[in-house]
Amino acid sequence: MGSNLCVEPLEASFGARVTGLSLTDASDAAFKELYRLWLEYALLIFPAQHMAPEDQVIFARRFGGLEIELAALSNLRGDGSVRDDVPEDEMMQILKGNMGWHADSTYMPVQAKGAVFSAHRTPRTGGATAWADMGAAYAALAPGMRARIEGLAAHHSLIHSQTKIGHAARPAGESEGTRNADDYNGYGFHDDPPPLRALIKVHPETGQPGLLIGRHAFGIPGLAPAESEALLDELIDFACQPPRIYEHDWAAGDTVVWDNRCLLHRGRPWDMAEPRVMYHSRIAGDPVTESAMPS
Ligand SMILES: [Fe+2]
Repeated sequence: MGSNLCVEPLEASFGARVTGLSLTDASDAAFKELYRLWLEYALLIFPAQHMAPEDQVIFARRFGGLEIELAALSNLRGDGSVRDDVPEDEMMQILKGNMGWHADSTYMPVQAKGAVFSAHRTPRTGGATAWADMGAAYAALAPGMRARIEGLAAHHSLIHSQTKIGHAARPAGESEGTRNADDYNGYGFHDDPPPLRALIKVHPETGQPGLLIGRHAFGIPGLAPAESEALLDELIDFACQPPRIYEHDWAAGDTVVWDNRCLLHRGRPWDMAEPRVMYHSRIAGDPVTESAMPS
């Protein structure tokens, strides 16, 4: 590891700001140390990396296979024009949905391991990303609540969570052939039964138990729908409080990597008349430990 490496823990129960190395040029030994730091802190923030998108993909792949190589999360169309903030624009609906606390791909058969995320164009104000520490949240739960959720599971669906914010998301099968290159590609809008996931997830590498909740979760088997929703809302409200949250105000050139097995995250609002361009690489979960429960 280079002697210039500087690791500064964030003002939260997790996370660190890491400077003194170029992610593009990290040696195998340096990466091994980064991976160790990633497991320890769950969120690493690397200011001023200015990584090229292709280098981001190469870096992300060092964490494991990729579920999504590179997706632009942006309110710009392919031609660079700003999208209209209208209900019909599915990408705008997805960006707004992302402003609710969630873990990535819990609505897929295998949830994501993590993500590399970088800022390319940032608005003058707003547009931060926030993360929340689900291991610390579980550890802080009152014993009564811990006992109550032990053994419970919830279904996870992107159609469910988008419908809840007023987006009339259509299953991919129904909308086939109706999307064009500028539209959201429909990822996650599948017709299969929503995966069922335990509310308590044991991190496969650290062994730490954490809450697996977020906006995609609904319909706890054995509870009435309203009771299930109230419990899931209560858990999010409790979990996503200081010191278990951290919000990063982006500068163009920043790169982060987070662990999706123990953190929730959400985008923060901004004036959507202003461009915001982020690149997201989604690291695939291990099917042995990130698969949904058998249904
Ligand atoms: Fe996300």
